[in-house]
Amino acid sequence: MRWPSSTPLATTAWATTLLLLSLSPLPTTAQLHHYARKAGLLYYGAATDSPGQRERANLQSTYPQYDAILSDPLEFGQTTPTNGMKWLFTEPLPNVFNFTEGDIVADLAASQQKLLRCHALVWHNQLAPWVESTVWTPPTLRAAITRHITAVATHYKGRCRAWDVVNEALDEDGSYRPSLFYTVLGEDYIKLAFNLTAQIDPAAKLYYNDYGIERPASVKTAGAKRIVKMLKDAGIKIDGVGMQAHLHADVHPTAQDHVDTMQSYLALGVDEVAFTELDVRITEPVNETKLEWQAEAYTNVATACARVKGCVGITLWDFYDPFSWIPVTFPGEGAGLLWFDDFKKHPAHDAVVETFKAIAAANGNGTTPCKNKRKRTVRKIGAVSP
Ligand code: XIL
Repeated sequence: MRWPSSTPLATTAWATTLLLLSLSPLPTTAQLHHYARKAGLLYYGAATDSPGQRERANLQSTYPQYDAILSDPLEFGQTTPTNGMKWLFTEPLPNVFNFTEGDIVADLAASQQKLLRCHALVWHNQLAPWVESTVWTPPTLRAAITRHITAVATHYKGRCRAWDVVNEALDEDGSYRPSLFYTVLGEDYIKLAFNLTAQIDPAAKLYYNDYGIERPASVKTAGAKRIVKMLKDAGIKIDGVGMQAHLHADVHPTAQDHVDTMQSYLALGVDEVAFTELDVRITEPVNETKLEWQAEAYTNVATACARVKGCVGITLWDFYDPFSWIPVTFPGEGAGLLWFDDFKKHPAHDAVVETFKAIAAANGNGTTPCKNKRKRTVRKIGAVSP
């Protein structure tokens, strides 16, 4: 039998959520960001793509309803462009820059007063073909990275609350991924990227971002900590660790796993951590039991982020299932976000809202100001703990 891994504490939190759900009539419109703020987070957000890039073609008829949900300030207080700021789009040819796609989402964030996470400056994937086909030497690659970061970070200077400076530098075993960046420059490319971005946009929070770094005992978590320490030891600014959190409903981290992992990053001296690309995929066919597991996974993330002072927020990797990258990347899996194809909400949506409400109530308020005041401490949460 497949069942999500969970500790007794996580089960308690889930039971509490179910109890609350059964006792209280559900609001007609739940509000993720609104209640996340009350629970102490800075934001609950959703990444989005520019219209031409949305994962499936021929769904233009859904755009008005999609856009209405995304623009609801009570639902989402933050966004990230899922694709438009990547190298493929921003420097498609050597020294030819194009910010059209990235600007669509940056402008949307500005017009809707949403916080913006910018993503991603140096990543081995979705590189422009010319980057992959060039034969690099250390000096030429350093120059190319320098030119790329300088142009992109300068263009978005002052607009990005945070930048994913380096994305997915780690291989599955926790060692460095043998990307072209690593192969030519070793870990110096990471130092170069952070150093440069810090000079160009000193106000942005600079993140190392990866997947599979949500569990305390994972080899990739150890790798992410090595990267933070390597930069800190070199006196280079790194402000945060982004846990992508592309999770699976069947087996997912407990809230305590998330808390322990976040604390271990914060203990190295970064200011903050965030869940940056959250989705919880389900192996088809979707059924009620799997949706319950999914709700537990989402609830664990919400509970953990609310418990850890340095956890600034949670970003869904889009919010509407048809625009998710999951079915494209993981055949046979899907339904990982919080809105189904027909725009009905997943049970996880209201479970998360009820979790935040319970945490806010346990904190004795409906008006907790946003956090991040004290670092590396665990927030007190009365009745609800992971
Ligand atoms: C994904 C996008 O969602 C897709 O549209 C694209 O085809 C591939 O990339 N980790 C990341 C994101 O850091 O940039 C990836 O986004 C998902 C995995």
